[in-house]
Amino acid sequence: MLLKKIETALNKQIRIEAESSQVYLSMACWAEIQGLEGVAQFMYRQSDEERLHMLKLIKYVNERGGHAAITDLKAPKTAFGNFKEMFTELYQHELFVSDSINQLVHVTFDEKDYATHNFLQWYVAEQIEEEALARQIVDKLKLIGDDKGGLYFFDRDMQALTTAATKADTDKEA
Ligand code: FEO
Repeated sequence: MLLKKIETALNKQIRIEAESSQVYLSMACWAEIQGLEGVAQFMYRQSDEERLHMLKLIKYVNERGGHAAITDLKAPKTAFGNFKEMFTELYQHELFVSDSINQLVHVTFDEKDYATHNFLQWYVAEQIEEEALARQIVDKLKLIGDDKGGLYFFDRDMQALTTAATKADTDKEA
C-alpha cells in the first residue's frame, strides 16, 4: 500500500510526464510545418516515449493500491524562433524533469518506501540518457548556426537517429 504522501508525489510526476508528452507533440507539429520531417519524427517519438513514462507510473500507482490521477494539463508553447531555441527548451525541460525525479526519489528515501525507491531507478537512468542526448543535439545546432545546408543534414541525421531508435525498440520486443 502506498503512503498518501508518496501517492501524491507520484501523481505529480504523472502529470509532468503527460505535460512533457504534450510539449514534444507541439514541437513535432512546429517542426513538421517548417518542413523538417526528421526533426518532426524525432519529436513525435519523444512524445510517445513520455506517454510511456506516464503510463508506467500510472500502472505502478494503481498496482500498489493507490489511484493514479488523470488531470487537465498545461498547454504547451506552439511556436519557436528557430530549431536551436526549440532544442534548448527541450534540454531545459529534461533538466526540470530530472530535478523532479530526484525530489521524488528523495521523498521515497525519507519515507523509507524502498519499493518505490527501487522502481524510480529506471527513471533516474532514463534521465541521464535523455539529458545527454538533448545536450548533444543542442551542441550540434550551435555548430550549424544559420547554415541552411547544415540544417538539411541535421534533419537527415535526426531521421536516421529516430529510425535506428525505433528499430532497436522493435528488436528488443521481438
Ligand atoms: Fe519522461 Fe523526458 O522525461
